[in-house]
Amino acid sequence: MYTPRSPGLQKIYRDAALVLVVIFILILLMMVQLLLFPFNHQMDKTIRTSSGTVGAADYLDVGCPNPCSLVLVESIPEGMHFGLNSTVNPSIFDGWMKLLSEAERSIDIASFYWAMRNTDTHTSEPSASQGEEVFQELQRVSGKLSVRVAVNKPSKSQSLADLSVLEQSGAEVTVVDMLRLTTGVLHTKFWIVDMRHLYIGSANMDWRSLTQVKELGVIIYNCSCLAKDLGKIFEAYWSIGGSNSSIPSPWPSNYSTPYNEKTPMELNLDNTPARLYFSSSPPALCPEGRTDDLTSILSIIDDAEEFVHVAVMNYIPVTTFSYPKRFWPAIDTHLRKAAFERRVSVRLLISCWQHSDPSMFPFLESLAALKSKWKPLDVEVRIFVVPATQEQMRIPYSRVNHNKYMVTDRVAYIGTSNWSGDYFQNTAGVGLVVNQTDSNTRIPSSTVAEQLRDIFMRDWDSPYSKTMNNVEELTSTCKYI
Ligand SMILES: *[C@@H]1O[C@H](CO)[C@@H](O)[C@H](O)[C@H]1NC(C)=O
Ligand SMILES: *[C@@H]1O[C@H](CO)[C@@H](O)[C@H](O)[C@H]1NC(C)=O
Ligand SMILES: *[C@@H]1O[C@H](CO)[C@@H](O)[C@H](O)[C@H]1NC(C)=O
Ligand SMILES: *[C@@H]1O[C@H](CO)[C@@H](O)[C@H](O)[C@H]1NC(C)=O
Ligand SMILES: *[C@@H]1O[C@H](CO)[C@@H](O)[C@H](O)[C@H]1NC(C)=O
Repeated sequence: MYTPRSPGLQKIYRDAALVLVVIFILILLMMVQLLLFPFNHQMDKTIRTSSGTVGAADYLDVGCPNPCSLVLVESIPEGMHFGLNSTVNPSIFDGWMKLLSEAERSIDIASFYWAMRNTDTHTSEPSASQGEEVFQELQRVSGKLSVRVAVNKPSKSQSLADLSVLEQSGAEVTVVDMLRLTTGVLHTKFWIVDMRHLYIGSANMDWRSLTQVKELGVIIYNCSCLAKDLGKIFEAYWSIGGSNSSIPSPWPSNYSTPYNEKTPMELNLDNTPARLYFSSSPPALCPEGRTDDLTSILSIIDDAEEFVHVAVMNYIPVTTFSYPKRFWPAIDTHLRKAAFERRVSVRLLISCWQHSDPSMFPFLESLAALKSKWKPLDVEVRIFVVPATQEQMRIPYSRVNHNKYMVTDRVAYIGTSNWSGDYFQNTAGVGLVVNQTDSNTRIPSSTVAEQLRDIFMRDWDSPYSKTMNNVEELTSTCKYI
């Protein structure tokens, strides 16, 4: 018996037929493409293998024959004092001067802005002399060695005066217009010397970063294999300098790296086995193989078993520079999850100064609220305030804790980014991850993570760190510092 189909059913049959035809055409097109361009896939493969081979060869050739040695370096603002037996590290100033004295062939510097000579404040400030000294030394070697500087395109308030002087002395400078390229800035701060030593950390090329701002960085000596990998990030910045540049997509294979979160570089660091890699942001500046900075931070939080200690200047789960601002909970969620699911102890040491974004504090209070007496999660937040005398208060953009690092019971992470969304989505920054978890050495201070934890605990327990009890009072104090 014939049952007339409903019009609805007919439509479904028609649509199904149409979908089948489209799928058939697509398959046909794919077959034609395969017939016409049979070696496309082949080519892909060759490129991949060759990059892999280059990586492996690098490792074998160089193999870090030299005894890589890592030193944590700090700038402690003038007038700040910790307890008698507290951790003391070499200064960033001494580290930079040592790097300059070691340099024989080349110095490559990735930088946000330059203010090494005290020409911007129109004051004569004795604490600027270290910056001036570093600058003079850089100027002196600029004619003799290859000195290259990649710098963010300056905003109206910033100047390129320092770099013009270096250029006249023989340095090469490239200006990276990150605002045009990614709507961000080049916020990275690192040095590579002779493709053998390197510095990475929070200090800007600013005299204040040596004497008036609290900074943390790391210098690795005699480590050509790591320096070479960081060199690829420098080359990437160099290649996108100028006003007509664009970001390649994909990046040519010689920018790719075999060293990342999954396959870190294995080497001996001060005679202790270690696994290291550099992460980079934003994702557009991560060629094949490079772990992006956010992925790296999240993987470190997820990997922690006992504690996560974070010391950053800003912690805002928001994209603060975008319009409209967006909620950006990636890091926040992973911290809460670590505290809730694995009972990891989470401590945040955040900075407060006159330029602090007030919208940061409610988010910090919200995290700190997890430590309730009913279901106690081990989450604590403290605010670090760098004190200032009347004199010091007159120095603009100084007297702040500018550190950007994290330490867990397993890993040390030293970065250059503030912890808010913008820094991972469109701003260029780098991070160094040092993992020495399965080194069986139990000697105190033998691993980088242990040394970094000592620094964190020194600051955490110092009189400069305040609990979050009265945020209103605290923020108003910071305003006048
Ligand atoms: C500092 O260390 C010395 C030697 O280890 C010790 O005798 C002294 O009590 C310590 N001082 C403080 C303030 O902890
Ligand atoms: C680097 O290695 C050289 C020998 O190749 C050595 O003289 C120098 O002390 C090492 N530097 C550091 C900081 O370990
Ligand atoms: C990759 O090769 C190009 C072309 O030879 C070169 O300009 C660029 O500097 C290289 N990049 C790296 C990271 O070596
Ligand atoms: C550190 O190394 C161990 C051992 O290889 C590994 O299991 C762990 O995932 C690493 N941690 C991080 C955060 O990369
Ligand atoms: C981030 O860090 C830079 C300096 O490193 C600072 O000038 C800027 O104000 C910071 N603020 C925010 C909101 O990210």
